[in-house]
Amino acid sequence: MKKVAIVYHSGFGHTQVQAEHVYKGADSVEGVSATLYKATDITDKPEILNEFDAIIFGAPTYMGSVSAPFKAFMDGTSSLWFKQVWKDKLAAGFTNSGSLSGDKFNSLMQLVTFAAQHSMLWVSLGLLNESGAKDVPSGDQNSVNRMGAFLGAMAQSDNLPPEKTPSVGDLKTANLLGIRVAQAVLRWK
Ligand SMILES: Cc1cc2nc3c(=O)[nH]c(=O)nc-3n(C[C@H](O)[C@H](O)[C@H](O)COP(=O)(O)O)c2cc1C
Repeated sequence: MKKVAIVYHSGFGHTQVQAEHVYKGADSVEGVSATLYKATDITDKPEILNEFDAIIFGAPTYMGSVSAPFKAFMDGTSSLWFKQVWKDKLAAGFTNSGSLSGDKFNSLMQLVTFAAQHSMLWVSLGLLNESGAKDVPSGDQNSVNRMGAFLGAMAQSDNLPPEKTPSVGDLKTANLLGIRVAQAVLRWK
């Protein structure tokens, strides 16, 4: 059985819904067991992740960057970095913000760089923008990868409760990222 961890922060619940969909996707793949962690619960014990084959990182975009609590988790892994104990584990990432762009790309780049510092191998999203393929308006809320990201999964949340936003398409995208990482980890020896 391969093991995938999803580590996320969410201030107001929207990125949590996204994380839960990543988790469900990863856990749905036969031969893979997924575990969801709040970054704030493991900032002082990131070694809990050492036993996993892949780690998927997720944070809301605050001020064009990953949220401060998630950055605290990142910094908390520096003792593991010294020993490079996560070398050759698979990594992937997701982020969510209020605006369609909101500078989410920068948050994903932070996650890519973080994974590279640990010598992890980054798994991209691997999905085309479905709204383009279906010939519906770009950004269609029901479409997979409606924001056309490739580094990782993006979601956009309106100023509404997490039961209503992010959109159906964004949550499908999150689910598919989890599936992709789980399938990749089964192939990775
Ligand atoms: C401190 C703070 C900074 C934010 N900065 C951005 C930003 O740079 N870009 C953006 O589009 N939305 C920004 N937002 C909106 C959040 O990304 C958005 O509300 C998101 O859904 C919050 O996710 P969460 O519920 O998981 O915390 C910010 C929100 C907060 C509280």
